[in-house]
Amino acid sequence: MASTNGVRQPTTVGDSTAVNAADVHHSPPLWRQLHEVAAVLTAVRSGKSWTTAQVDVTDSLRPGVQALSFEVLRHYGTALALRAALAPRTPSAPVDALLCSTLALALAQDVSVNAGYEPHTLVNQAVEAAKRSPATKAQASFINACLRRFLRERDALVSQVMRLPQASWNHPAWWIQQLQHDYADQWQTILQANAAAAPMTLRINTALTSRADYQQALLAGHDIKAWPVAHSGLQLAHSAYVPGLPGYHQGWFSVQDAAAQLAAPLLLDKAFEHSGGELRVLDACAAPGGKTAHLLEYAASKARHIEVVALDVDPSRCERITQNLQRLQLSAQVIAADAGQPELWWDGQLFDAILLDAPCTASGIVRRHPDVRWLRRKTDVQQLAQLQRKLLAALWPLLRPGASLLYCTCSVFKAEGHEQIQTFVARHTDAVLQPSPGHLFPQSPLQPGSMRDNRLGEHDGFFYALLQKTAAST
Ligand SMILES: C[S@@+](CC[C@H](N)C(=O)[O-])C[C@H]1O[C@@H](n2cnc3c(N)ncnc32)[C@H](O)[C@@H]1O
Repeated sequence: MASTNGVRQPTTVGDSTAVNAADVHHSPPLWRQLHEVAAVLTAVRSGKSWTTAQVDVTDSLRPGVQALSFEVLRHYGTALALRAALAPRTPSAPVDALLCSTLALALAQDVSVNAGYEPHTLVNQAVEAAKRSPATKAQASFINACLRRFLRERDALVSQVMRLPQASWNHPAWWIQQLQHDYADQWQTILQANAAAAPMTLRINTALTSRADYQQALLAGHDIKAWPVAHSGLQLAHSAYVPGLPGYHQGWFSVQDAAAQLAAPLLLDKAFEHSGGELRVLDACAAPGGKTAHLLEYAASKARHIEVVALDVDPSRCERITQNLQRLQLSAQVIAADAGQPELWWDGQLFDAILLDAPCTASGIVRRHPDVRWLRRKTDVQQLAQLQRKLLAALWPLLRPGASLLYCTCSVFKAEGHEQIQTFVARHTDAVLQPSPGHLFPQSPLQPGSMRDNRLGEHDGFFYALLQKTAAST
């Protein structure tokens, strides 16, 4: 672990775009990082995604700020309740963000080796950050007083705020209530899993290299242990700088969670069973193309040819599909259009398989995107469920009778999964639900209380339903 100012530096983050802070030769002082972390938190609180919020962070600060802001977002519920106990009158936004960030990192220290700062160092550096910024300078003494009181009365303050569900579970109250409603017996396990960082998982492009060869290349060239997951995945023992891994530019792998790696086999195994010829496949919400690429790679691994139409409503995200396919040496027909309005883009030829990886709350991928829980609103669940319903209804007529549509979301909420499909099947008499994984929960099989819901072990929360269209179409 690198050291600056007597402060241990975080080395990795569990995000798929992970940057190793140890790669930075001269780590900047912690107060500068805290200043940027507080700015990222302010932006997320105003509704910006973490990805957008951290765009302007300077390169030298980026690895540390990324890792620290992830920890802050994971502990923000407790930190906010502590700040309210220490300073009942809400301070200005920059002061509030600096206080909450420092409190969150002090808490993170208890549970994560990646955020191992000494509490007194954290407080000293937070006060230094406050003094050096015009937005917080006048409040530096106040910040100092709040944080020193926290250090003195930590245990009493923490046990006081932990009575609030959003403080003890680090999720908004409505989110906790939604999970309690959906999973009376399992909601706590899901929330517990969300507190951890996700592992880095790769999908090996088996058209270009084998999983065993790639596993060996990771170990020999980078001293990274990895073990097989899913059909062609490898879970890494620790995160790494993605473009620095072997064969990135040659397209040997993609970063993709193990649960997401279920889509291609689920859809194509069924489609290949029913047809020996070339298949025409629609990937209806395709950007940035993770599953599009997997469909093509998986077909090649089975010596089958498929033609893929990759659709996304967002033209700039369509460019990312094209770039990703180019890197992986794959090709598809990429169309920027609304999947809910086939009359604007469909050529009238029925599809042999359809993947609908629908827009959703992303409530299953909180481990990788700790900002998501603070960005979503309760009303988003029903709004997104309505959009999913519209997309399903619009795409169903495009499927050849006898063929299958795979519906998936990276959500654990039943409104976006189980309930959505129950409603769809009730309304479409020609739709038959095939054996499907249903709701998968974010977890590691190594954690106590793990639900061991499937064979993959460690993975994100997801929902899958495979729907076959009966031959007598309505
Ligand atoms: C969950 S993401 C898809 C991830 C992608 N399948 C992958 O594996 O990389 C959902 C996508 O749906 C797209 N989307 C949202 N509404 C849409 C619509 N009406 N028609 C087509 N795409 C849409 C979004 O732009 C977003 O890229």
